[in-house]
Amino acid sequence: MKGRWLLGVAGVMAACSAGAQEAEVEAGADIAARWCGICHVVEGAGSPTDAAPPLPTVAQMRSDDYLRGFLANPHGNMPPIDLTTREIDQLVAYLGSLR
Ligand code: HEC
Repeated sequence: MKGRWLLGVAGVMAACSAGAQEAEVEAGADIAARWCGICHVVEGAGSPTDAAPPLPTVAQMRSDDYLRGFLANPHGNMPPIDLTTREIDQLVAYLGSLR
């Protein structure tokens, strides 16, 4: 189960912040559903645009560092999206939970 896996990872990183980490993941999922789902597949469903890779696939392929850097400064065919550092952290937490 995803939640349990996440707790394990959070436990390794910081024994007492597992609850906080779950809140980050939820906030990130919320942002993704609102801002990313127009172009990217967010958890499952059919591909909204062919140009944008499904987010679960992106999450598997890319490291947190890569994702953080990319979201701070999107490039290629993805339009710039104005995200705060906090929103980026939440998105990276959410993407990490898809791995
Ligand atoms: C208007 C459409 C659009 C929206 C909205 C959008 N993306 Fe993208 N995104 C793309 C496209 C197209 C690419 C492929 C870019 C390329 O390869 O040139 C991409 C690429 C990416 C990549 C890089 C994949 C890689 O392997 O390099 C990440 C990460 C990503 N998007 C995350 C997000 C997140 C998170 C959001 C929501 C905050 C989002 N995108 C919103 C169109 C979009």
